[in-house]
Amino acid sequence: MPGVVIVGAQWGDEGKGKATDVLGSRVDYVVKFNGGNNAGHTVVIGDQKFALHLLPSGILSPGVTPVIGNGVVVDISVLFQELDAIQERGVETSKLLISNAAHVIAPYARTLDNVTERFLGSRKIGTTGRGIGPAYADKINRLGIRMGDLFDDQVLRDKVEGALEQKNHLLVKVYNRRAIEVDEVVEELMQYRERLAPMVTDTSLVLNAALDRGETVLFEGGQATMLDVDHGTYPFVTSSNATAGGACTGSGVGPTRIDSVIGIVKAYTTRVGEGPMPTELFDEDGIKLQTIGGEFGVTTGRTRRCGWYDAVIARYSARINGLTDFVLTKLDVLTGWETIPVCVAYEVDGVRYEDLPQDQAAFAAAKPIWEEFPGWTEDISACRTFDELPANAQNYVRALEAMSGCRISSIGVGPDREQTIEVNDLIHARGV
Ligand code: GDP
Ligand code: IMO
Ligand code: MG
Repeated sequence: MPGVVIVGAQWGDEGKGKATDVLGSRVDYVVKFNGGNNAGHTVVIGDQKFALHLLPSGILSPGVTPVIGNGVVVDISVLFQELDAIQERGVETSKLLISNAAHVIAPYARTLDNVTERFLGSRKIGTTGRGIGPAYADKINRLGIRMGDLFDDQVLRDKVEGALEQKNHLLVKVYNRRAIEVDEVVEELMQYRERLAPMVTDTSLVLNAALDRGETVLFEGGQATMLDVDHGTYPFVTSSNATAGGACTGSGVGPTRIDSVIGIVKAYTTRVGEGPMPTELFDEDGIKLQTIGGEFGVTTGRTRRCGWYDAVIARYSARINGLTDFVLTKLDVLTGWETIPVCVAYEVDGVRYEDLPQDQAAFAAAKPIWEEFPGWTEDISACRTFDELPANAQNYVRALEAMSGCRISSIGVGPDREQTIEVNDLIHARGV
């Protein structure tokens, strides 16, 4: 059963793009199952650096068929810009397939994202402003436009009219903005048709047929567990299911066909946007993690909030996603600290929590209970086996594994594809 899911185990930017790219050379299909161009993945191959947002990271591996699943929301102008940019750099993109049931991020969704955030004031989410929330809201409200709708003049016009009837009231009467013309939107969407036509298809059929043939499908999640609309730090979340279950609903492949679920987890913690983060650092250590780790957003350029590793979050992710493996990334960033604190549990109003408090206020008030581990000073970026790591780095990894509820199968020691230590060969060890 060669279905492999990759999800973020924290608040995003764990290095999912690199992990997908590393596995990409061994798989036949990579399907992005949630989110849209709110994602930002940096993939480094030799002296080349690629920033991907909407395209699956597997697109960089020759031989892979990249797929945008039905769970994704697609900003078509961004899609074309991204395709053009990587084609110019010699990446083959002609195999890309897009689900006919994926929703379109209509131009008014971006407008609504930004005005809503402004309207929320101090209660804002800190979204990426890409129209993600409003596009998913339309999907749930049954007012969305799907990729397949673009190819039928009447259906497209009816849907845009239906959506704008409601949106224009909101824009004009509540937000004091100008109304959006139906013709303007329909014309913009129609002009994309010709280029999209060869890509749009029933991708569930394609992926299930590939699995029937014994081929390998990698399901790539955007965002992360703690940003999942159901299981994350609601309301400070994105608007899709970034957890493993989303791989099935977002691709049209059933759960019995998934063999492994790999959680990507950073050796420390970062978060972009608003919302609670118990291990956040406000001192020099936080700035040091940010600087050494290059923790600046790929999508919005915002600085990422930084803190130490949070084992409560890791255990929660292992449980919610049914993880089979962790890929631990950015261990090299921790080189040079005398001791490295890890949050092993929380304290809320004098009570110790081993598991994530489900109450929003309790989580916001959670104080980390720390355990300190001795650090190392040796440069580890050239290590390629676990045994080459300094003893204290080995102990740190073993300690994280013991407290995080799932084995660590791979360790990142730098951004390049090659800077990876395979503790267990992820795909082959799973019998794939
Ligand atoms: P994603 O959104 O989960 O794909 O992650 P991002 O690409 O937004 O952020 C991860 C950043 O860390 C990128 O700049 C990667 O090139 C980089 N990166 C990934 N793995 C490692 C690693 O093991 N060590 C170091 N130093 N950088 C890494
Ligand atoms: P990758 O895939 C980190 C955050 C935003 C905001 C919240 C909601 O690169 O890990 P949205 O625009 O989705 O409605 O914003 O989610 N967010 C991310 N943070 N990495 C991401 O993606 C993110 N995608 C969304 O900062 O707090
Ligand atoms: Mg990212």
